Amino acid sequence: MNFDLTINPINDIEADIELIIIIDKNFKHRFVQDKKLLKKSGFKATQDETCLLIEKDRLYVGMDSLTSSNMRTAIASAIRSLSSAQYETLKVASYMNNPKCTAILRAMVEGAVLGAYSFDKYKTSKSEQSIAEIIISIEEYNEYSLDIKKCAIALNKGQITAEATNFTRDIVNITPEDCYPKTMANIAKDLAKDSSLECKILKPKELRAEKMETLLAVARASRHKPRVIHLTHKPKNPKAIITLVGKGLTYDSGGLSLKPADYMVTMKSDKSGGSAVLGIMKAVSEMNLDVEVHGFVGAVENMIGGDAYKPDDVLIAKNGKTIEIRNTDAEGRLVLADVLCYAQQEVQADYLFDYATLTGASVVAVGHYTSSIMGNADEPKDMMITAAKSSGELATKLDFNNYLKKTLKSEIADICNISNVRYGGAITAGQFLEEFIDENHKDKWAHIDIAGPAFVEHVWGENPHGASGAGVRITLRMLEKLARG
Ligand code: BES
Ligand code: ZN
Ligand code: ZN
Repeated sequence: MNFDLTINPINDIEADIELIIIIDKNFKHRFVQDKKLLKKSGFKATQDETCLLIEKDRLYVGMDSLTSSNMRTAIASAIRSLSSAQYETLKVASYMNNPKCTAILRAMVEGAVLGAYSFDKYKTSKSEQSIAEIIISIEEYNEYSLDIKKCAIALNKGQITAEATNFTRDIVNITPEDCYPKTMANIAKDLAKDSSLECKILKPKELRAEKMETLLAVARASRHKPRVIHLTHKPKNPKAIITLVGKGLTYDSGGLSLKPADYMVTMKSDKSGGSAVLGIMKAVSEMNLDVEVHGFVGAVENMIGGDAYKPDDVLIAKNGKTIEIRNTDAEGRLVLADVLCYAQQEVQADYLFDYATLTGASVVAVGHYTSSIMGNADEPKDMMITAAKSSGELATKLDFNNYLKKTLKSEIADICNISNVRYGGAITAGQFLEEFIDENHKDKWAHIDIAGPAFVEHVWGENPHGASGAGVRITLRMLEKLARG
């Protein structure tokens, strides 16, 4: 999808279809000529509601009020409504509420790219999105001496962000038969080939040498050998050094603590954290952000078999801590434990974030649309919360506490991999990870449980059925801010 910015009046632009956004529910604004028709068709201009006047080549979409998040979902809905139509070019006015603020413009671009996404790799007949070009007129802001360069930058950032999100969605949506640890490593290698990113892959031999025995134990019963990926973006004088760690369970059957049938479907999405890290690294390099970013992914498949790790095993993590296994389905934290230790050994970072579809309890706590942010220190958590607000993603904090921490106690090892109480599972998982954060990273770390929003089986806002690319947009906003200094 291409975007053109122009100062030409909207009526002078040639396009197959025009998109008109109705914010005023009384239709008092321009384009009164269609007022009657819109009324007749029952169009109420509620948020995301669309109405295509086919003979006029005009598409209307409603919006409750002019905000970035409303813009994102309205445009996504409009683009989606054209998915089976034959229009190639679309024109739209910019609707910026403030000529100095390009946020609405960026949201418009993001909404279009995110809304146009569809995953049809496994469909025999593909439904190609026909809109190839969107022309945005910023004519009405001319008198404010609008900075067209600033608009172009916002457009470009929006496009990179949304395309990286779609890139992540694609990886997550691919089946476990087609995407296993080696595949994820190859995706990372391909990213590095086409960019300035550096890529290092650790195979089982290196993982053993690095004493990543808990990760290896989780991987053991699978025919697909594990990989740890390390991608690096290294500008000359970076404003900060940031490490990102992602859970890349290419399939989570639960292991010997086997998941019930209903809970196993969609577990191809357990690689969402790792896939988000890959998407973020792609965008960071495309934006050439002035921050050093290290992306680590623990790519593993959790299966059953004669060689599987078991409840009752005691494993030794990379940092020497012993873990009593009481449930092999709490595998993500085991993989992350080792990868977090490895990442901290390799990089002394200013901030450390991890992304994981870690617990069903996070979904119970905050619902399907929101990520849970946890950690010991306020600063990294608040950075994420602030970044979320402009990104289009939802995130909320869950506080750690000492009562829940005690429920991870083991009688025979340093810690258990599950808590001994029924509730608070998102927090206990976060507090388990805390055990693998070094003293000098303690106040620099935040854990993001994306189990809710990473994979949702219906359309919501600008997100499609299936993978949403959760974590990508929020993190890019945060990194962009750090890069500005
Ligand atoms: N990958 C799952 C968590 C999950 C659940 C992600 C639903 C997305 C949607 C994780 O590995 C898991 O199985 N966690 C267990 C932990 C339990 C055994 C303490 C869970 O949430 O039930
Ligand atoms: Zn699991
Ligand atoms: Zn899992």
